[in-house]
Amino acid sequence: MTRDLAKAVKRCSKPETVALLVVRDKARDRSNIMPIGWKMWTSGQPRLVAFSVSLDHYSCDLLLAEDECTLAWPGKDMLPGVLRCGSVSGLNTDKFELTGWRLAPAVLVGSGLIEGCIVNLECRVKDRLETGDHMLFVCSLLEGHVLDGDTRVLFTLHDEAIFNHAGQGKGYKFGTFT
Ligand SMILES: Cc1cc2nc3c(=O)[nH]c(=O)nc-3n(C[C@H](O)[C@H](O)[C@H](O)COP(=O)(O)O)c2cc1C
Repeated sequence: MTRDLAKAVKRCSKPETVALLVVRDKARDRSNIMPIGWKMWTSGQPRLVAFSVSLDHYSCDLLLAEDECTLAWPGKDMLPGVLRCGSVSGLNTDKFELTGWRLAPAVLVGSGLIEGCIVNLECRVKDRLETGDHMLFVCSLLEGHVLDGDTRVLFTLHDEAIFNHAGQGKGYKFGTFT
């Protein structure tokens, strides 16, 4: 057994099921997309989900302003788009144009739904807590949309995706890091 905190965390961090956080950007009249792996269900009644967004990410500023969002669950086939969305900031990039994905109207939130995702969940921020270099958002689930008969496997980040958390505040990057 080796004493190594960074190595231990890395070893138990994959596979990681990845969702897409969609937040309305009113100033640019579009919605922004950011892949999110650090998330969990945190209550069944009421239904709550929690996820962590880096304070450096544009999505964090947007969500602090909007207090509502969508969590969309891509299929494994959507890997190229997921990695593209996770490699650039929405400050200067329209990620719907970047991926070719389409935005559909949601029922209760302005962020919309990503067409082609297996599941879309409409969410409202209930609580938040600054946790080191990330903001933990706790959201109520308001509405859910599921593609009937879609048997695709949910997108899961494995080592073959060569996209890894670099640690030391450097976030997710292409490559392998010790
Ligand atoms: C598979 C994957 C999972 C990610 N998970 C998280 C996460 O849980 N939290 C986070 O803050 N960033 C995460 N990222 C990084 C952001 O998605 C990425 O930095 C993105 O470009 C931020 O976009 P924005 O600046 O438009 O908000 C992940 C990226 C990928 C590709």
